Amino acid sequence: MAKIAVNGARSVSIGVSDLPASVKFYTDVWKLSVAAEQGGTVYLRATGADHHVLALQQRAVPALLSLDLSAPDRSTVDALHAAVRKANIADIQAPAPIREPGGGYGFGFKDPEGRILRIIAEDARHQDAAVVVDRPLKLSHIVLNSRDRAGTTEFYNRVLGFRLIDSTKAMNFLCCNSDHHSIAFADSDAATLNHIAFDMKDYDSVMRGAGRMRDHGYGIEWGWGAMARVTTCSRISSVPTTRSSSTRRKSSRSTRTIKCAAPSSGLGRRAVSIIGASPSVPPTA
Ligand SMILES: [Fe+2]
Repeated sequence: MAKIAVNGARSVSIGVSDLPASVKFYTDVWKLSVAAEQGGTVYLRATGADHHVLALQQRAVPALLSLDLSAPDRSTVDALHAAVRKANIADIQAPAPIREPGGGYGFGFKDPEGRILRIIAEDARHQDAAVVVDRPLKLSHIVLNSRDRAGTTEFYNRVLGFRLIDSTKAMNFLCCNSDHHSIAFADSDAATLNHIAFDMKDYDSVMRGAGRMRDHGYGIEWGWGAMARVTTCSRISSVPTTRSSSTRRKSSRSTRTIKCAAPSSGLGRRAVSIIGASPSVPPTA
């Protein structure tokens, strides 16, 4: 019997305190593009097939609102729903059509630390997907700060089908497809968003991206170096999970990355890094 598991991290939803400025940053500088707008949410796509990789909403306080994980089909969604229910997660929705841009079939729930996750299958895919120089192709991985790295890792592995593929003194790296990791958990005193990484075509794209950041006034915060594949990291170290949460519980790759100062548009102490994703980079800014 095939393992019941998610097979990717499609998108992240974030609340920002200055929506127009954030959209301008992610389109003009980060080189995503607007895929849709609905109900005050702006959905941004990369050049790959995923309908969107980032959804931005205006919020008084910056917040990580939800993570969307993908499943291969609706029967897997149903099976994962049963697994989450069996894990005694009380805050869970029934599987249903997703009524927002991208659509699909899925359900949402809160993980043991209060993050809102959605598992979605059969969502819209762009037919014009392409690898384009200087532009992000897709999400690479999401790093989440965690109060309970071991317990949260165990939940994602046992219930959602992830696999622990790497671990350092402060971080666990979880795999669910051919990527080295799609999610990582970093030790912290709060269940916040650490950073989001995006895949780029090649190192030249990363270097030009670094130049683009500088040209727009965002200073490089990390150094820069090589990794298994070219990745662009957006480091958002102080964005909390949604405040409605009530269930919180408690390799040897190159370490140099480029990290830039954040736009002041509302993601707290956000900083943006390019070609990050080194396991040895400290988990918080
Ligand atoms: Fe990273």
